[in-house]
Amino acid sequence: MPFETRVVPAAPEQASTPLLALALARGPLPASLGPLDAAMGGAITRLLDSGDFSGKKDELAVLYPAGPVARVLLVGVGKPEELTLAGIRRAAAAAAKRARSIGVPSAAFHLAAGLPHGVSPADASQAVAEGLAFGVWQFTELKRPPEDPKPQLARVEVLAPAATAEWERGHAVGAAIGAGQSFARGLQVLPGNQCTPTYVAQAATELGARHGIKVTVLGRDEILKEGMGALWCVAQGSAEEPRFIVLEYEGAAGAPLVLVGKGVTFDTGGISIKPAQNMEDMKFDMSGAAAVLGTFEMLGRLKPKVHVVGLIPSAENMPSSTAVKPGDVVKSHFGKTIEIINTDAEGRLLLCDALSYARRFSPAAVVDIATLTGAIVVALGNSTTGVMGSDESLVEEIRGAGDRADERVWPLPLHDDYRELMKSDIADVKNAGGRAAGSITAGWFLREFVDGYPWAHLDIAGTAYSEREDVSRVKGPTGIGVRLFSELVLGRQG
Ligand code: BES
Ligand code: MN
Ligand code: ZN
Repeated sequence: MPFETRVVPAAPEQASTPLLALALARGPLPASLGPLDAAMGGAITRLLDSGDFSGKKDELAVLYPAGPVARVLLVGVGKPEELTLAGIRRAAAAAAKRARSIGVPSAAFHLAAGLPHGVSPADASQAVAEGLAFGVWQFTELKRPPEDPKPQLARVEVLAPAATAEWERGHAVGAAIGAGQSFARGLQVLPGNQCTPTYVAQAATELGARHGIKVTVLGRDEILKEGMGALWCVAQGSAEEPRFIVLEYEGAAGAPLVLVGKGVTFDTGGISIKPAQNMEDMKFDMSGAAAVLGTFEMLGRLKPKVHVVGLIPSAENMPSSTAVKPGDVVKSHFGKTIEIINTDAEGRLLLCDALSYARRFSPAAVVDIATLTGAIVVALGNSTTGVMGSDESLVEEIRGAGDRADERVWPLPLHDDYRELMKSDIADVKNAGGRAAGSITAGWFLREFVDGYPWAHLDIAGTAYSEREDVSRVKGPTGIGVRLFSELVLGRQG
């Protein structure tokens, strides 16, 4: 569905729109809303006086005034002194989500709460654009269209009566990131029978063609010839062929940042098969790949001066008579042998060959992103991504990017003690430890294949999709990682 947003230098009382959304903090009516409230015969004042709406976070109310604005949607952002960039993004998302469900073709958004202390107009504007794209997203393609379809929300104007040029600058960044995140969610949501490794590679190729980004795809034979025995052993049980996708965006000279995304298009567990309960969610096991592709969609739209390489190993993990078995030993691209203890620990097998392949780019840094372990959900729940790495300052840089993006991450320790847990009796390393420290032992496995560059790993098993709907998002894919990677990449601009 096409969705466009733009900045217009208008005050709220000048708007003429089917829906005007106002992000409002608790407290008295802000002066900037005086003229609009007067034109509405004091309806906003009466609403606030009634106590039906007080501006609490996530509170929503709709008014139907006479005049050129058909609906006024009030979105609460909480106490003014507690408003953050994340709160602004969330309010914009809530506004877009409600406007979409009401069914208006276009809308306007105004940050009536004003700018929080220390937040620039450009940053606020970026957050608004990201939030609008996030809130409007839905997936209906596989449902029969309704008999009485409502108009689709296709356009939102962001009202910026002051500092308009700065609002426009931030908006361009936020809109590109928002489009990248929507692209990622659109890929995540697709079922495994549609989104195969071949499909992911096709999507990457088309993305590259759209934006003039170089994309190379290794097929089955090339993967075998490269010696990617770990990636191959995951794929060998499936009728779907694996793909290894390489994207290169060269907006500047110098060593690239390499982003690696796990692209398991469906994870049954293989011979170590998963229980039936919620197995359908394993279509989301390519969310790391989606995050990398979404980041490249952003790069293609924004064309910043950075050098970024994307690596996506993609396979389907199936049980069959040709599937890899527990006890099998395979040889990785790096050269180390791996004893397969559990065929459900397949993500690290794809990633280790990509981490090895990354060496040929002499990277400035490598960051991988993967729905890697159920253990990370036990440790951090569904709102925080786990981060581990070999380089303290890279991990700190990622934490900063995650905070700015409101895709927060928290570090887990890769102490040497944990390395013991991944030692094999007959091979160089085994692919699964015991129950203890499951996310960290997975991290240590990856670290065995890291050589010559700063590296960090993001475990998004808890944050890639949401089992609940809330005011700002639908159930399902979150597009996690696109905003974080965008902040990381743009923060490295020369
Ligand atoms: N894709 C799963 C991890 C996962 C779990 C993602 C829950 C999203 C939600 C991964 O491939 C996996 O199966 N990991 C195993 C590793 C174990 C066998 C060492 C796990 O976490 O149980
Ligand atoms: Mn698995
Ligand atoms: Zn998996």
